[in-house]
Amino acid sequence: MQCNHGTRIDWVAESCALLAGLTDEFRKTLPFEGFTIGTGIHLEPKTVALLMTLRAGGANVVASGNLGSTQPESVAFLRSQGITVHAAQTTDAVRHAKSLRKVLAERPQLLLDNGGDLFALYLEDPYPGLLGGTEETTSGRMRLWPLRERLNMPILVVNDSPIKQFGENRHAVGQSMLESFMRLTNRSTNGKHVTIFGYGPCGEGVATCFRNAHSLVSVLEIDPVRRLEAHLDGFMTPSRDQAIASADVIVTETGAVGVLTADDLGLIKDGAILLNGGHFPTEIDVQGIMSSPDVVRCRDLEDGALTSLTLRDGRTVTIAAMGHMANLAGPRPLGNSIEAMDFGFALQAKCLERVATGTLNADHCIVPVPRDIDEWVANSYLRLRNQ
Ligand SMILES: NC(=O)c1ccc[n+]([C@@H]2O[C@H](COP(=O)([O-])OP(=O)(O)OC[C@H]3O[C@@H](n4cnc5c(N)ncnc54)[C@H](O)[C@@H]3O)[C@@H](O)[C@H]2O)c1
Repeated sequence: MQCNHGTRIDWVAESCALLAGLTDEFRKTLPFEGFTIGTGIHLEPKTVALLMTLRAGGANVVASGNLGSTQPESVAFLRSQGITVHAAQTTDAVRHAKSLRKVLAERPQLLLDNGGDLFALYLEDPYPGLLGGTEETTSGRMRLWPLRERLNMPILVVNDSPIKQFGENRHAVGQSMLESFMRLTNRSTNGKHVTIFGYGPCGEGVATCFRNAHSLVSVLEIDPVRRLEAHLDGFMTPSRDQAIASADVIVTETGAVGVLTADDLGLIKDGAILLNGGHFPTEIDVQGIMSSPDVVRCRDLEDGALTSLTLRDGRTVTIAAMGHMANLAGPRPLGNSIEAMDFGFALQAKCLERVATGTLNADHCIVPVPRDIDEWVANSYLRLRNQ
């Protein structure tokens, strides 16, 4: 038998069972007929499956990506399907913002946002007819929450669904950050001291996966209640200085800015590897660290997947993916598991469908996914797994 050529986009599309079911449903119900949906989410094979589902529902989809994660094959595929894509594979925030502005110039009635980029830019130059939309992440919710009164439209936060929290943030981010650490560094995890900054669902998942991979895991969490939870879950919760000084690997999973900075260089152990799993590349202050007078040599290894810094006293520190989300960077970035994204994207599609009905209002600005949608996704997935 001669094998035909297929791609990862095919494999992902065939594996997204919830989205496949929704695509069939939307082809009949056409919930987005007459609407333009503007998207600002990582352009990679799993989001391709989501965007194709929205298109099957009648939407004119105008897509952009997120900073540093655009995959050219996904862009080429979407364009071949007639979807307008304004995106560059760039880590340049100015260039990225230009792509987002092009999406907004099409005046979409619905926005699918990831990190709050599109809604924040919309406020700089509002236009009539925007009904609302969705936000995917914790970081986006934190960014948009203070803008709530000005946004004044339904925006459903997919991150705040319990299914997204445990299905993606806890289980999938943990697995994919572990996979990415090994893929980017080819180093073992056994017996390594690993410090995780942040013990939200993502940090919890990462801590658990590294522990399951035989690492000695410490958690650094500023919220005492979550720190207690980490302690009861059996993780070490040392002081900040100890947690940094003892770590062979440090992972940031906080959604906060400047969690690790040049001021910490004095503490960092020789040979330590720094990885970020949080949404924005600002958790590790890479620019500040690289311009520190303590850094005397910098080597770019593996085409930017690893940056090795030599300090004045001879210690080395290696930063993965220049502080961008490690699980969407470097060679063959896979992101989170297909199943986890299928959950999240089914929630996205159902939430956008709900906003498109026009039955929500400004009281639904930055609120979690409606419970009936969570139940629909849970029941559909369990039915597919024959549970
Ligand atoms: N890599 C991925 O694929 C992926 C997927 C989902 C979410 N995310 C991102 O991961 C990040 C974390 O998500 P989450 O859902 O766990 O968020 P969360 O807000 O529930 O948890 C973050 C935790 O970090 C703690 N924290 C904040 N600043 C800190 C600091 N300076 N030091 C130590 N702890 C600190 C907070 O107290 C909180 O408990 C967000 O940026 C989110 O957007 C990434």
